Amino acid sequence: MPVASLPGPRRRYPGEFALAVVRRPLEFLPALARDYGDVAAFGIASQPIVLLSHPDQVRDVLVTHGRRFHKGRGLERAKILLGQGLLTSEDELHLRQRRLAQPAFHRARIAAYGETMAAYARRRASGWTEGAELDVSTEMAAYTLAVVGKTLFDADIEAEAHEIGQALSTAIRTFNLTVVPWGELLLHLPLPMTRRFKRARERLDATIYDMIDRRRAAGDDRGDLLSMLLLAHDTEGDGTGMSDVQLRDEAMTLLLAGHETTANALTWAWYLLSQSPEVEARLHAEVDALGDGALGVADLARLPFTRAVLAETMRLYPPAWIVGRRALDTYEVGGYRLPPRSVVLMSQWIVHRDPRWWPDAESFKPERWLPGGSASDPARPRFSYFPFGAGTRVCIGEQFAWMEGILALATFAQRWRLRLVPGHPVVPQPIVTLRTRYGMRMIPERRVDRSRFTSSTPMSRSAEAGRPDRRTPP
Ligand code: HEM
Repeated sequence: MPVASLPGPRRRYPGEFALAVVRRPLEFLPALARDYGDVAAFGIASQPIVLLSHPDQVRDVLVTHGRRFHKGRGLERAKILLGQGLLTSEDELHLRQRRLAQPAFHRARIAAYGETMAAYARRRASGWTEGAELDVSTEMAAYTLAVVGKTLFDADIEAEAHEIGQALSTAIRTFNLTVVPWGELLLHLPLPMTRRFKRARERLDATIYDMIDRRRAAGDDRGDLLSMLLLAHDTEGDGTGMSDVQLRDEAMTLLLAGHETTANALTWAWYLLSQSPEVEARLHAEVDALGDGALGVADLARLPFTRAVLAETMRLYPPAWIVGRRALDTYEVGGYRLPPRSVVLMSQWIVHRDPRWWPDAESFKPERWLPGGSASDPARPRFSYFPFGAGTRVCIGEQFAWMEGILALATFAQRWRLRLVPGHPVVPQPIVTLRTRYGMRMIPERRVDRSRFTSSTPMSRSAEAGRPDRRTPP
């Protein structure tokens, strides 16, 4: 069925929808869903693109019929940076690489990462100065990058975080321009932006290859992800196994996918907390009840509200704000037949804010995630919330991200309250992930936990006197 027979707007001039998708997707796509319903189509060049906005359609594409789709246009283009890593590869290659990387993400192993996550948050928090403005998005990216470097690659890359962050931003900005039809051709022209992109990619490659070389030179198996990848490279590297390039692609994918999204979630959480004093106070009360020693995995069960804050942040500001797929064959949805190669888009930004599933959808209400809250209403369709995707391509780092997000929020909140700099423009920038267009300029205020001075528990007294680094888990 041609795209014209699907519900959707008619193009008024060539390039209209391509421009709208690149320039203002958070207005264009929600308006499309609102005006045309759960199946809404538009065309870019001769490519039919169908936006699906019902949770059951999300389930069908990602889970039930997941194998009838490949990744969409955006991730195909991302290969210019990520190569054929886990995020972008398909079919057999994806299956093999996923199986290979999976042990690094098993529950027990992730639990071992918890200490690093909390310790690095503590270290970064101790570098902040009362009243000294900072860009929280840069801070969170440096923090999450350091965590992923240490936990998955046993490498200390915190010192390079700023440079890596800049290279990544350059790469992502250029990437956005290539999403327009024929956009990849731009990268073959000698333009300033092409040169900037290539320099940025070289900078990121340098970090990756340096980590690989150092580990090779050390020659030991540390049991982390990098060792697993190297081992597979060495035993299978006979032309049929993992090549040097494949190794680089996997490492680059995990380094980038493993920090950028979590950093965005944390940045948006600090922003939302700064705008909601009551929620912030409740978070502080929960965190203060644990004392001010180093937090660890054992504390997670005692941080249900902190978890709810993270869940609600990712509902309103999903770091992965859209997922795309390309149909391999004819696909029927909502009574329409989509031809092979149709692109379908499913947007967390749209579905997570849909008032059919979310009462008071635009409000920041973490309590909806607590037991008995509206998020646990069995009538709410399961895929009305899918910040980590679903099906065979579900995020491999989901548990990692929950643990890191909760421990980081709680650890920073033990010491600091963040205030938005007055007048700072807060504008979402939906490129690959949901970033902040102008960063997030905030001012740290040191928190004084009054309970420490009034309570007579031994833990509080010792915390007040000596600020011990480790607290005995319950
Ligand atoms: C809040 C944090 C995160 C969010 C919101 C997030 C979101 C997502 C989503 C939506 C996908 C699926 C994309 C698709 O279906 O096209 C995905 C895939 C992936 N994520 Fe995450 N992610 C997060 C953190 C992480 C972390 C911490 C890691 C690694 C340490 C990671 C590594 C990956 C990888 C490798 C894939 C590809 C998996 C595959 O296709 O087999 N992510 N992520």
